[in-house]
Amino acid sequence: MAIERATSKKLEDLTRRREQSRLGGGQDRVDQQHGRGKLTARERIAVLMDEGSFQELDAFVTHRATDFGLAEKLTQGDAVVTGYGRVNGRLTFVFSQDFTVFGGSVSEAVGVKVCKVMDLAAKSGAPIVGLNDSGGARIQEGVASLAGYGDIILRNTLYSGVVPQISVIMGPAAGGAVYSPALTDFIFMVKGTGQLYITGPDVIKEATGEDISHEKLGGWLTHSTESGVAHFAFDGEERCLHQVRRILGFLPQNNGEDAPLHPLVDPPDRVEPELRWVVPEEPSKSYDMKDVIRRIVDLGDFMEVHELYALNIIVGFARMGGRVVGIVAQQPSYLAGALDIDASVKAARFVRFCDAFNIPLVTLVDVPGFLPGPDQESRGIIRHGAKLLYAYAEATVPKVSVLTRKAYGGAYIVMSSKHLRGDINYAWPSAEIAVMGAEGAVNIIHRELIEQAEDKDKTRQRLTQEYQERFNNPYIAASRGFVDDVIDPAETRPKIIAALEMLQNKRDTLPPKKHGNLPL
Ligand code: HXC
Repeated sequence: MAIERATSKKLEDLTRRREQSRLGGGQDRVDQQHGRGKLTARERIAVLMDEGSFQELDAFVTHRATDFGLAEKLTQGDAVVTGYGRVNGRLTFVFSQDFTVFGGSVSEAVGVKVCKVMDLAAKSGAPIVGLNDSGGARIQEGVASLAGYGDIILRNTLYSGVVPQISVIMGPAAGGAVYSPALTDFIFMVKGTGQLYITGPDVIKEATGEDISHEKLGGWLTHSTESGVAHFAFDGEERCLHQVRRILGFLPQNNGEDAPLHPLVDPPDRVEPELRWVVPEEPSKSYDMKDVIRRIVDLGDFMEVHELYALNIIVGFARMGGRVVGIVAQQPSYLAGALDIDASVKAARFVRFCDAFNIPLVTLVDVPGFLPGPDQESRGIIRHGAKLLYAYAEATVPKVSVLTRKAYGGAYIVMSSKHLRGDINYAWPSAEIAVMGAEGAVNIIHRELIEQAEDKDKTRQRLTQEYQERFNNPYIAASRGFVDDVIDPAETRPKIIAALEMLQNKRDTLPPKKHGNLPL
């Protein structure tokens, strides 16, 4: 009887402590959080994880600070909720910053909690999702809080390419704290409430006198369209978290596994006659490459990454014959699909992610070249364009490409060509592989002839047409085996799926080295 009484007292004490921990910074602050249109740290986890699957760790950890009267202000769990659970039935680790406790700031104890789940994620080979809503390093703790961040950042780096790391920006992420999300694979932002900046508007006002709002400085629009920091932005927290669940469905658990194979829901041999009419006769006319993508992937389901950034290139995840693929494709309807600095960097990072996590690359090519001009040159197109060459050349995952129209110059080489270890390279009959477009080529190689001609325009026109007919087709490349086959556009889907199936056990290596020197 006495034992039972003692036990139930202890259980009551546990329940009381748990309740305290669950309330974070208290009901008032929870109400404030809701008043700002934000969910609490635990409510967010409940949306992210499969129902009832979350197992919390370290709910009783408290901060260790004593200065500034902090010894009296102890909150069970401090300013982060950590643990693991299931997303679509698959193990996933999470940390969720609790803004109701010291503005979600990272104390030494918070750092230790976050590192613990990061270490567990790496050891168990499962993704880690960070839900960010924080004022950054806890100011009162000084260097101890910076150390906490340093430990997190070290792990972001060490586990990069080991397990997928996803950051969701649901409130402020200010100061050096932004560098932890920046090191992760994908950044999701909630429109209107998620903000990232290395110095806030007040400091900017002090330093430069410039007035700028939090949203303009570090909101979703800035980071989705201009800086490229954010890969995704969604209205509302729930929508955003559902999209995190969606992307996790495309990813393997770790770098030692393949992405999950889905049951066949769309016939692999499905032909699409409409694709025969996609490429316009007139070479300068554009078309929407997303139409091509939607027609060839399973059920037209394409999760585009960086949808609003560097629109001249499209990257994202889809499935073909049930297999996850990373799609990289030019967008002829924006800058004619030319490769500029932003497009090169965007695609290079995506290619490297896919390569790190065993996701085959399907590349759709229609590229007139690297974007010329003094602006691009002075900002370093040489350095940045080289990133994409490096990424494709280094990638050892299956690489299948389809040339739909133009593949000119260095841009021909970069886009998964045979020369950079492309495994299967197909071309549509409309493909043109050349050092440059016909008119530019003729102006250079026939300069004298044109200058001496009586009717310069007519001569140029005739020579251009001759050049076009002679060189701008896929058959010269096919005669050398640089293109494996010229295919009927309608058969693009079955052809790619067959290639992916053939390549499913592909093994390729790099020469032994510590690491390469990617042109950063
Ligand atoms: C301790 C903090 C805090 C912090 C906020 N709080 N940030 N406490 N350390 N870093 C506390 C506030 O004092 C306040 O407590 C509560 O959290 C809510 O904050 P508010 O300011 O009332 O909220 P809001 O108006 O929404 O503004 C949020 C904010 C702002 C934009 C994040 O608080 C802010 O600018 N904080 C400082 C950001 C910053 O400069 N952090 C240092 C970054 S350097 P009370 O009790 O008053 O309600 C850094 C280095 C990392 O992080 C290095 C990694 C490499």
